[in-house]
Amino acid sequence: MTDFQHGSMDPAFARDAAAIAGNLGDAVGRFAGKTVLLTGAAGFLGSQFVHFFAWLNDSGQLASPCRLIAIDNYLRGIPAWLRAMSDRDDIESHATDIVATKTFPVADFVIHAASVASPTFYRKYPLETMDANVIGLRNLLDHAVALRPESFLFFSSSEIYGDPDPAHIPTPEDYRGFVSCTGPRACYDESKRYGETLCVTFHQVHGTPVKVARPFNNYGPGLSIDDRRVLPDFFRDVLAGRDIALLSDGRATRTFCYISDAITGYLLVLLSTHDGEAFNIGTEAPEISMEDLARAVIRVAGRDLRVTKTVSDDPLYLRDNPQRRCPDLTKTRRLLGYEPRVGLEEGLARMYEYYRPNSGESGGRSSGV
Ligand SMILES: NC(=O)c1ccc[n+]([C@@H]2O[C@H](COP(=O)([O-])OP(=O)(O)OC[C@H]3O[C@@H](n4cnc5c(N)ncnc54)[C@H](O)[C@@H]3O)[C@@H](O)[C@H]2O)c1
Repeated sequence: MTDFQHGSMDPAFARDAAAIAGNLGDAVGRFAGKTVLLTGAAGFLGSQFVHFFAWLNDSGQLASPCRLIAIDNYLRGIPAWLRAMSDRDDIESHATDIVATKTFPVADFVIHAASVASPTFYRKYPLETMDANVIGLRNLLDHAVALRPESFLFFSSSEIYGDPDPAHIPTPEDYRGFVSCTGPRACYDESKRYGETLCVTFHQVHGTPVKVARPFNNYGPGLSIDDRRVLPDFFRDVLAGRDIALLSDGRATRTFCYISDAITGYLLVLLSTHDGEAFNIGTEAPEISMEDLARAVIRVAGRDLRVTKTVSDDPLYLRDNPQRRCPDLTKTRRLLGYEPRVGLEEGLARMYEYYRPNSGESGGRSSGV
């Protein structure tokens, strides 16, 4: 046992890691003695993966510990939780831009989660977003051809479906999408679509054992309150004692998947044999409007606040914003045995508890989803 285990892991991460390991059961043994290369380690999903592998090694469940190589360009700095792990010898952290390098460490498993994921930021950094999903992915896939990992996971997005017509909600993996290739969200949507094409083609041409996950709105501890995605924005308002100001009519709907369920799903995809295939990972209920979501956040926080509606200064803010987003999980359930477990109210309560001690009172509003 390390000092880290005895106190410095945030209990929210420890609880989620234990849940993920419990959900995976004996399958976690596949990581024993293996090396995992993780890109985007400083991000939301990255933070959960790093804590999960640290917790797994500390738990003594593996016959021999796994080794995690965590890489990120650390554009937003090295997070404090990662600095706190610097004395661990099972976790290595590298400051690497995946677009600028073609040389990566050898690994048994590759988890490629580096990208810009928040709509506010991918619209601000469209070229960097495309480069990570196209050039960075290509660099990692070329590396995989040379070094033949056991499995490779690419993070795509539910955004590859664009704004599906109601006949395709819930949306199955074989829906081809309704997407603009030139609109304000295109840098993200289209680079994820091309990224998926790259993955499938590498599988066909080189036999690369690559799988694709399509996340549908994850939330939970690790999602920075400054990230400008919808839930951190709502919590930031509530923690500052402000009414929640929606920058829309509040009618667009989403489903929100708690992070321990989502990470379970991603690891099931990674550990599967379904090379060259894509899987929806999320939850299908409740499909909730942004207005009802804002009310749920206020309720969970027990605050006496209102939901108001205003208009963004940005005329393109709502252009191509999907009206509804909800996954069809039939394939993921059938082939991987995936089952989300944490309900929305419970997940929101956990997120509130996570943000409370870390909350700043400063503001700014957006509701990128
Ligand atoms: N979180 C969700 O709900 C969600 C939904 C759909 C898709 N995804 C996808 O899942 C992946 C992870 O999402 P997230 O929420 O953790 O995103 P995030 O923005 O929190 O983290 C992404 C990380 O990637 C790093 N990064 C970006 N470009 C890089 C580069 N060129 N080289 C090295 N590092 C780079 C960033 O510094 C950041 O730390 C992304 O591919 C995202 O598109 C996430």
